[in-house]
Amino acid sequence: MDNTGFKRHRRLRRTESLRALVRETKLTKEDLIYPIFVVEGEGIRKEVPSMPGVHHISLEYLNDEMKELEALGIRSVIVFGVPKEKDAQGSQAYCEHGIVQQAIRQIKKNVPSLAVVADTCLCQYTDHGHCGLVENGEVLNDPSLELLVKTAVSQAEAGADIIAPSNMMDGFVAAIRKGLDEAGYSQIPIMSYAVKYASAFYGPFRDAAHSSPQFGDRKAYQMDPANRQEAIREAASDMEEGADFLIVKPALSYLDIMREVKDRFHAPLVAYNVSGEYSMIKAAAMNGWVNEQEIVMEKLTSMKRAGADLIITYFAKDVAEWLNE
Ligand code: PBG
Repeated sequence: MDNTGFKRHRRLRRTESLRALVRETKLTKEDLIYPIFVVEGEGIRKEVPSMPGVHHISLEYLNDEMKELEALGIRSVIVFGVPKEKDAQGSQAYCEHGIVQQAIRQIKKNVPSLAVVADTCLCQYTDHGHCGLVENGEVLNDPSLELLVKTAVSQAEAGADIIAPSNMMDGFVAAIRKGLDEAGYSQIPIMSYAVKYASAFYGPFRDAAHSSPQFGDRKAYQMDPANRQEAIREAASDMEEGADFLIVKPALSYLDIMREVKDRFHAPLVAYNVSGEYSMIKAAAMNGWVNEQEIVMEKLTSMKRAGADLIITYFAKDVAEWLNE
């Protein structure tokens, strides 16, 4: 307190160099994981209508895309596959020549320095669009685990550096850890989508991945957005089962959950800045209603401030460019 009787907080904000000295949170290129959508077929490089700037690419375009990321200084990608054929068991998810397995092999061969994360789920591969096996309108838990384990092992065989199961079946971390260990992949970490809400923010992704459920919704396996304690229970069981990273998804509306998870569990925390969060900003920016760069940097910085160590984001290339400027 000085003789005015109040505190002068503005002292530390007076110039940019002072502000830089006291800045508590920094976003860096190492924080970024870039999602890519690889499709079966030839000569495809097609923008996803609801996600301007995000493309479906077929394998011929993959090397260029990876070189671009490398040049920008992005160190990690998460790979999603869009197969031609879907069936009730999602068999393209765990096929040796599945689109994701091919993409992973190609990336590791051409740009081995990139850390490749494989999203392990069935919804892009099942004809009903659910993340597990379906019987009488219900998504079965335990029988789905076997297929997820097969998927994870085939992704590790293809060369994935990290397995990221996103399906929200109970026990998936334990099952996948055991499956990977038995197949000789005890060195491969699991980045668990531990806290994943049944969110309307996934809308544009489902267009991009052709993965909308064909009946019902995902509320019987993804979490209710109203719940906080349940997030702690989910994260706790995944940690016990052997998760190496924890994901909170979506990010923007769940910063409180991120902070709580980070305070309680000492594992690297990943924010998934999902498709709807991306598309809303893009749409507003394209209309000239917001300043895209400023709003994206503010938003991603707030995720780090909330406790995220890493951010999966469709803005990764833009952010890397801005940080390189
Ligand atoms: C499910 C999956 C989803 C996303 C990634 N993997 C969501 C879902 O459809 O339930 C969403 C990602 C995004 O919205 O960006 N395997």
